[in-house]
Amino acid sequence: MRMKGKTVIVTGAGGGMGQAISRKLLEEGATVAGIDLNEDSMAGLLHDRFTAFAADILDEEAVAGVFRDMHGKTGRIDGLVCAAGIAQAATPITDVSLDQWHRLMNINATSLFILSKEAAGYMKPAGTGSIVTIASVSAARPRPGLQSYIASKGAAESFTRGLAIELAEHGVRANTVHPGPADTGMLSQFTAAGADSDQTRKEIFESSVPLGRLIQPDDIAGGVVYLLSDDASMVTGTTLHIDGGRGL
Ligand SMILES: NC(=O)c1ccc[n+]([C@@H]2O[C@H](COP(=O)([O-])OP(=O)(O)OC[C@H]3O[C@@H](n4cnc5c(N)ncnc54)[C@H](O)[C@@H]3O)[C@@H](O)[C@H]2O)c1
Repeated sequence: MRMKGKTVIVTGAGGGMGQAISRKLLEEGATVAGIDLNEDSMAGLLHDRFTAFAADILDEEAVAGVFRDMHGKTGRIDGLVCAAGIAQAATPITDVSLDQWHRLMNINATSLFILSKEAAGYMKPAGTGSIVTIASVSAARPRPGLQSYIASKGAAESFTRGLAIELAEHGVRANTVHPGPADTGMLSQFTAAGADSDQTRKEIFESSVPLGRLIQPDDIAGGVVYLLSDDASMVTGTTLHIDGGRGL
């Protein structure tokens, strides 16, 4: 029960990793607010310490409302996990529109500014808190055709390091997780147009992991809960690779 009495907000809570992270946090005693585009995606997380919020993470007002609501209910905001995100189908840059670039940058990077700004407003006066951003090993080990996604994840990591140095004097920590190819609904969305997604999954993704299997959402959840917990009280500005060695 490392998270007993703590309040944590998890974005993308209806997705593969977000669900596993929320479930693990509930097991460890936290009160959890999940944010995703629709409530149905979070239906499997039914628990008396879980509240589902249907909201777009680019909607500043809606995000502020979630923090206000949870702070009103529990009197604290201890953690923020930014797990929401979108993939890019592998596409040569010459075929990527500026709108597609902006969409990826907005959802995967600009949202972090909106969410972290809100979290810092509660965590700084409290003198404690932990922010965890899910980026991607692709920021360190790129693949062809994912240029816009990779840029958004590089921004996520740099932004989180920037937060770490800025918020350290207030007792607030910020860290990044770089997952390797993970067994969630997102994986098939990286497939190039016209390619077979099962084949891509096996031949490109699974075979690229030195430890020999795809990353499971629970592998990510374990690392995230560690970074949120007091076990990591001197860990800030770091990037935890949970990638089975893919980044090597
Ligand atoms: N699956 C992988 O192979 C992989 C690898 C490295 C990094 N990641 C990153 O891990 C994170 C979690 O991905 P996942 O694999 O669980 O994917 P997923 O698609 O299962 O979950 C992502 C969730 O984010 C939500 N979301 C998207 N846009 C949103 C918005 N504007 N507002 C609110 N919610 C929104 C989706 O509805 C979805 O439930 C993402 O940031 C992803 O980029 C995934």
